Amino acid sequence: MTGGARLAGEVRVTGAKNSALKLMAAALLAEGVTVLDEVPRILDVSIMSELLRRLGCVVEGVGTGTLSIDVPAVPGHEADYDLVRSMRASISVLGPLLARCGEVHVAFPGGDAIGSRGLDMHIDGLVKLGATVENEHGYLIAKAPKGLVGTSVWLDFPSVGATENILMAAVLAKGTTVIDNAAREPEIVDICAMLTAMGAKIDGAGTSMLEIHGVDGLAPVRHRTVPDRIVAATFAVAAAVTHGDVMVRNARSEHLEIALDKLTAAGAAVSALDDGFRVVMERRPHAVDVVTLPYPGFATDMQPQFAVLNAVSDGHAMITENIFEARFVFLQELLRLGASIRTDGHHAIVRGVERLSGAPVVATDVRAGAGLVLAGLVADGETLVSGVHHIDRGYDDLVSQLTALGGSIQRELEPEPRF
Ligand code: EPU
Repeated sequence: MTGGARLAGEVRVTGAKNSALKLMAAALLAEGVTVLDEVPRILDVSIMSELLRRLGCVVEGVGTGTLSIDVPAVPGHEADYDLVRSMRASISVLGPLLARCGEVHVAFPGGDAIGSRGLDMHIDGLVKLGATVENEHGYLIAKAPKGLVGTSVWLDFPSVGATENILMAAVLAKGTTVIDNAAREPEIVDICAMLTAMGAKIDGAGTSMLEIHGVDGLAPVRHRTVPDRIVAATFAVAAAVTHGDVMVRNARSEHLEIALDKLTAAGAAVSALDDGFRVVMERRPHAVDVVTLPYPGFATDMQPQFAVLNAVSDGHAMITENIFEARFVFLQELLRLGASIRTDGHHAIVRGVERLSGAPVVATDVRAGAGLVLAGLVADGETLVSGVHHIDRGYDDLVSQLTALGGSIQRELEPEPRF
C-alpha cells in the first residue's frame, strides 16, 4: 500500500468475530436449526463452521452473512485436533458439548501468538460444576456422565473465554450457578441474549456477577450478532491517522466509550449517527496514554491501532498492556517503519514522529496486522504487510473497505517463504 491518502466516506461494520464464534458454539446447546445474522465473512468463521460440521452439524451460508447451523440430536463430542489447534476460539465448544453430551475431547487450542493464554479458569469452573477434566495426548478430556450441577465460581480474572465456557455449561446444569468476577464484554451480553432467547435463565448479563438457573433443554433461535466494536474502532483510528472524515455505520458507540474519548482527546471530532458515529480529524493527533483492561476498560484488541496513532502524534504517550504480554512484539514492526518506541515490560513509551517510512513488515496476529495496515496508510512510500492471513481471521475484506474510503491498498498473493 502507498501512504498519504486521506480516508473519507462511509463504511459498514458487520457482526463481531468474538461474538459470532461463540454464538456458533452456543448453537450446539439445542437440537435443530439456529440461524445467525450479521456473521462476518472471515477465516475464523470458516474454521469454526468446519469444526461444527465434523461434530455432525450441517452448516450453510458461510460467507453470506447469514449462517444456519443444523445441530443433530446427539452431536459428536470430539473436536478435530488440527482445527482446534488453529484457532483459540474453538475452546468455546468445551462447555456446550459437555452440557449436551456429558463428555468432550478438545485439543489444547492454538491461535494468535500473543501470550501464554492458559485455560486454568475454564477447567476449574467446569470441575466446580462437577466435571472431571484430564489432559491426555494433547487433548483435554472433560466428563460429566451424571450431568453438571450448579455451583458458585469465582474467577481470578474476568476471563472472556472462561466466563463463556462456564456460562454455556451452566445453562443446562441442575440448579443455580453464580459466576463472580465474570467478564462484562458486549460479546458476553450478546451470548446471554441468544441463550435467553433459547430458553436459558440468566440474570446479570453485562455485570460482573452472572446468575444462571439451569433448565432441562433449549430451543434453537434466530439471532443477530452484535456489531464488531474492534473493527469499528479500527476504522475510527484509520480516519484519525489519515486526517480523514469517516462515517462508521452499524457501530455501537456505547461499546467504544473509552476509545472514542481517546480519539477526542487526540483532537478528533467524534459525533453520533443514527447507526454509528463519524470521526473527523483536521490535524496531526495529540498523543494519548492507553492502559488495556477487561471491559469496560480500554480493549487490548485496540492497543496496536492506538500505538500507530501515537507513533505519528505530536507528543509522547505511555501504552500499558495488561492482558496479553506478547502483544508488544508488534511494536518491533512499527520500529521498521521509523516509529520511536521504547518498551519496558508491559509499558511502552511512544514518541510521535513527523513521518513514518514505508517498508516490508510482518503481521503476527490479527490486531497487529490491522495496526500495520493503518501505519502503511500514513507512511511515506510503499509498505508491504505479509502474514495477511492473520488479518483475514478477523476483518471482513479490509482491503476493499479501505479502498472504498480512498486508501491506496492492494492485496497481493503472498510469496512462498524462501527459508
Ligand atoms: N487466562 C488465563 N487462564 C484462563 C483464561 C485466561 O490465564 O483460564 C489469561 C490469558 O492468558 C490472558 C487473559 O487471561 O492473559 C485474558 O484472557 P481471556 O480469557 O479474557 O481472553 P480470551 O477469551 O482468550 C478473548 C478474545 C480476544 C480478546 C480477549 C480479551 C476471543 C476468541 N478472543 O480472548 O480477542 O483479546 O478476549 O478481550 O473471543 C482478538 O480478537 O484479536 C483477540 C485476541
